Amino acid sequence: MGAATITKPHVLVVPFPAQGHINPVLAFAKRLASEGINVTFIITTKLSKFAKISDCSSITIDYISDGSEEEVKEPETIEAYRNRIKAVFSANLAEFIQRSPAKLVIYDSTMSWVLDLAHDRGLLGAPFFIMSSAVVSIFYHLKQGSLKFPYEDSPVSLPALPTLQINDLPSLSHPFMRSSQTAFKMLVAQFLNLERADWIFINTFDMLEKEVVEWMASRWPIKTVGPTFLLQQKHDKFSNHTINLFEAKHDSYKEWLDSREIGSVVYVSFGSIASLDKEQMEELALGLIKSNCYFLWVVRSSEMDKLPENFNSEKGLIVEWCNQPEVLAHPALACFLTHCGWNSILEALSYGVPLIAMQQWVDQNTNAKFIQDVWSVGVGTGVGENGIIGREEIAMCIEQVVGGERSIELKRNACKFKKLANEAVEYGGTSANNIQDFVSKLMS
Ligand code: UDX
Repeated sequence: MGAATITKPHVLVVPFPAQGHINPVLAFAKRLASEGINVTFIITTKLSKFAKISDCSSITIDYISDGSEEEVKEPETIEAYRNRIKAVFSANLAEFIQRSPAKLVIYDSTMSWVLDLAHDRGLLGAPFFIMSSAVVSIFYHLKQGSLKFPYEDSPVSLPALPTLQINDLPSLSHPFMRSSQTAFKMLVAQFLNLERADWIFINTFDMLEKEVVEWMASRWPIKTVGPTFLLQQKHDKFSNHTINLFEAKHDSYKEWLDSREIGSVVYVSFGSIASLDKEQMEELALGLIKSNCYFLWVVRSSEMDKLPENFNSEKGLIVEWCNQPEVLAHPALACFLTHCGWNSILEALSYGVPLIAMQQWVDQNTNAKFIQDVWSVGVGTGVGENGIIGREEIAMCIEQVVGGERSIELKRNACKFKKLANEAVEYGGTSANNIQDFVSKLMS
C-alpha cells in the first residue's frame, strides 16, 4: 500500500493595504505556514510596486489590482477608496479564487464583503481584527445602538469595559475620514455578516483583555491569536515586518542604541499614518530636548519638513523608519512615546517597555485609557489645549516614566505583561492553543 498523500490546505490571506494592517496579518500568515499550511498572501498591485519585501519565502506573495495604479486626480476619501476597492478588488479576487482554488480566505475585518464572496464560491471565510478587543466591542455597541453616535458627553458604561469618558471613546473625526459619518459606516460594517464567519481572529491575548475577550467569546467564535508578531518570532527571530511600505534608509540607529546605557533612551514614533500639526511637531521636539533624555525619533519623510528649522540635538537621533520590534527589544530603551496604535502597544508590552500615550485618532483614544488606567503601564499627555500638547507637558511625562516616582511601578507592570504575552504564544499558551485548534480543524 502506498503512503497516503497529505495535501496542505491552501489559505488566502487578504490584508487591508496599510502598514498597521499588513504587519499583524503577515506575522499570522507566516506562523500558519510554519504549521504546514499553504499560504498565499495577497497585496495590491500598487503596493507591490514600492513595498520592500524580504524573508517571505515560507509563503507565496501574490498581487491583485484594486484599480489604484491609475493616478487619482483629487485626493481620495477613505470611503471612495473603499467603494473602489470593493468593486475592482472583489472582481479580481473572485477571478483569483477561480484560478487558484483555496479552502479558506482570511481577510481584514474592514473588508467584510470578502466573506460573502468566499462563501458564494464554497470557501470558508474568517475576518482578522487588527485592533484591541475593547475597541472592537465598542464598534459593535455603536452598530447595535447601545452606544449612541454622535457621542453624548456623559460617562459610558458598556459590558466588560471600564467606565469611559467621551475622550476615551474612538474618535471618528479625522481629515483622512473626511466625515465622522463615513467613519461610522465603515467601522460598523465590520459586523454586518459577522455571525456567518467560520472563525474570527483577533490580535490580542486573553490575559491582556480578559473580561472583554470572555464577553466577545460568549457571542462569536473568536480566536485570540496575538501578539502575532511574537508568535511568529518564536519561530523566526525578527523576520516579522518584512513587507515594508517605508524605508529605513540605514541602520546606524542600531549602533547608536548599542552605545547608550541600559534604560536611557526614549523611543518616539507615531506609526505609519498619523500626521502631526507643525506646531505640535515643534512642541514635541522642544519637549524632548527639555526632558534631557536621549531619544530615538521616527519621523517619516512626509513629516520631516515640520521639524523646527535647523533642529539638532546632541542627545537625539532622527530616523525615517526602523525595525520597531528590534528597537523595542533593545536594553537601552527606557520608554516609548507613542500615538497608541494597537501594534505599537502590543510590541512594547511584549518587551516590557513602559509607554507615554499621545493618542491621535480612532482606537488610539481607548488604547490610551487602557495604558493609563487599566494596565497602569504608562502615563498620558492628555489632549492638550486647543489640541496641542505643550513641551512642558511632554517633558514632564518623560520625567515621570524615566526615573520619576511611578517609574518602577510602570516598568514592573509592563514586565508583567511581557511575561503574559510570552506565555500566551509559548507552547500551551492561549494564543498558541487557539492556533493549534484552528489548524487541526482546517486540516481535518
Ligand atoms: C493603524 C492605526 O492608525 C492604528 O490606530 C491601529 O491601531 C492599527 O492600524 P498605525 O497608525 O500605523 O496603524 O500604528 P501601529 O498599529 O502602531 O502600527 C505601526 C506598525 O509599523 C507597527 O507594527 C510598527 O512596528 C511598525 N513600524 C513603525 C516600524 O516597523 N518601523 C517604524 O519606524 C515605525
